[in-house]
Amino acid sequence: MAIIGPETIQKILDATDIVELIEGYFPLKRASSNWIALCPFHNEKTPSFNINPARQIFHCFGCTTSGDAIKFLMLYENLTFPDAARKLADRANIPIQEEELDPAARARIKGRADILRLQKAATDWYHRLLFKHPVAQAAREYLKSRGLSMDTSRLWKFGYAPEHQGMFFDWAKDEGFRIAQLVDGGLAKWRDEDYPERGAYSFFRHRLMFPVNNDMGETIAFSGRVLSPDQPGGKYINSPETVIFSKSKTFFGLDKAKRPILKAKQGIICEGQLDVIAVHTAGIENVVAGLGTAFTEDHARVLKRHTDEVVLCYDSDTAGIAAARKTFRVLAPAGMMVRLAQLPPGEDPDSFLAAQGADALSTVIAEAPEFFDYQIDRNGGQLSTTDLRERLNFAKELAADIALVEDKMLQDALISRVTVRLGVSEEELRKHVRNAANAVVRAEKSKRRREAASQAREQKSSNGADSNRSENGGSGEGGPIQNRSIRLLCRILLTDPERRSELTAHAVPEFFRDIPETELLTRIWKGDFDPAQAASVNAFCNTLPEIERNEITRLLSEEQARAQETLAQECLVALRKQAIQTRMEVIKSAMGAPSISPEQVADYTKQLLDLRAQLHDV
Ligand code: UTP
Ligand code: MN
Repeated sequence: MAIIGPETIQKILDATDIVELIEGYFPLKRASSNWIALCPFHNEKTPSFNINPARQIFHCFGCTTSGDAIKFLMLYENLTFPDAARKLADRANIPIQEEELDPAARARIKGRADILRLQKAATDWYHRLLFKHPVAQAAREYLKSRGLSMDTSRLWKFGYAPEHQGMFFDWAKDEGFRIAQLVDGGLAKWRDEDYPERGAYSFFRHRLMFPVNNDMGETIAFSGRVLSPDQPGGKYINSPETVIFSKSKTFFGLDKAKRPILKAKQGIICEGQLDVIAVHTAGIENVVAGLGTAFTEDHARVLKRHTDEVVLCYDSDTAGIAAARKTFRVLAPAGMMVRLAQLPPGEDPDSFLAAQGADALSTVIAEAPEFFDYQIDRNGGQLSTTDLRERLNFAKELAADIALVEDKMLQDALISRVTVRLGVSEEELRKHVRNAANAVVRAEKSKRRREAASQAREQKSSNGADSNRSENGGSGEGGPIQNRSIRLLCRILLTDPERRSELTAHAVPEFFRDIPETELLTRIWKGDFDPAQAASVNAFCNTLPEIERNEITRLLSEEQARAQETLAQECLVALRKQAIQTRMEVIKSAMGAPSISPEQVADYTKQLLDLRAQLHDV
């Protein structure tokens, strides 16, 4: 199987700046010579995701995920190695010989690229129809009736999906999209999945189309709204999940809201996409919405990359409040501060703006109480001031939510606030919070067990996917190298050009064979790379099996004082001693064997004396 050659990999890494790459996905903070962020690969509240610009690697001290720019893309975008390398190559305008890619990788990349191209082409077509075509008259009237201007329509690239199937399929044919591609991209559905020859129908018909973008602004899906209430299907339908679209991670409007959220240090979450559009149009741009489904942990993680605080701008009816509470329960454990905007009953942000204007909405958002205060305000009035039991019941209800707030300081503050405001005993409330917290931990544990089990299954079934890269062996064992001298030597050989050339002027010491954990050290010693160039080191790493690659990035990420000149020699001495001692141990235990001849004893004794002398001389 052909793979991308090491020179190309090095070129790609040379042309890529890992800081710039990752910064394109989420904001980074400077921390001395490194950059840090919240780890995108596990949930955390304080950043332990580290990027080292000098070495061009990332490392998370929380979950120990680490690697170079290619590895980052593999994990973050869920790509295979060749796909990730390919994407970086495209980004840096480095040509990759097509034959360097294996057919499966080529097909996958093409599949993704085709779907993206399809979404883009469809966006343009729907958009053109909306403004130019007679069939879109109803859609244009609808826009007008909702007070949506041409500018707004252009900015959000609204479109119209025609009722008539033929129009859609003719267009697709002219553009060179096959029906299977339309199905893969979620714009068409097979009439019968088992019999594609029975044909397909277009998924969106006679709908106002809202492109759904990823945070880079590429269209990955659509949401289509009916134009009249009696139309069949839901009021909104979204593209089905595709290779590039996952509802549980996507926010409508995030590409436009990303920077404003950073600036405002706060995100506003609405329920509907037309709310997002209306709020944005009113000049409040740090606003996003989900896609009609409940928020997930993935959503929380995506948001948390941009801000620590959100204002939920939901309907104030019972359903809206229940939805807000559900959202709180997902966002709070991610360390997010949640506020609730208090809209008048029956209004959503869109209708509120129409009725009262942008300033009124800004005020409501600025005055949005924190989640618990809101709860107490809302229910407090109805609670009789005399009936303790009722207040205790309500306290118990709140305790379940307080338990989700992991920040202990914040939790304490909440407990005293609720205690005071409800007039219940702090003791009692703490007890409920503890109970609720224990229940959460139990649920987490069993969830993690389930996840671990399913991950193990997945790994089993995907074994071999990486096989072309691991056949050159490896120590076989995972886990970090324990031997400090070995770690230090690896590090010196990887990072210090001078020491490296001094050391590698000699062959790999024979005695390494007597010491465990020296396999990787040997490979690094023999490797052909230049420690002065991060790309060269990373390209070398990419020739190693996954386990060793990870070990190297771990090594390189360790905080370390500048190595002293003599350090490498000291490590070698320590290892040499260790090798001798190990051999002495072996001989001693051989001498302890029951059926050993006097000659052998004499021989062993001589060997031991020799070794002892050697040990002395080291
Ligand atoms: P709403 O029903 O609250 O509608 O749905 P809305 O946002 O006020 O929409 P307009 O103003 O009538 O156009 C809120 C969100 O829930 C999702 C959509 O994402 C919508 O924006 N939704 C709603 C669906 O996915 N399917 C539906 O059938 C209805
Ligand atoms: Mn609405």
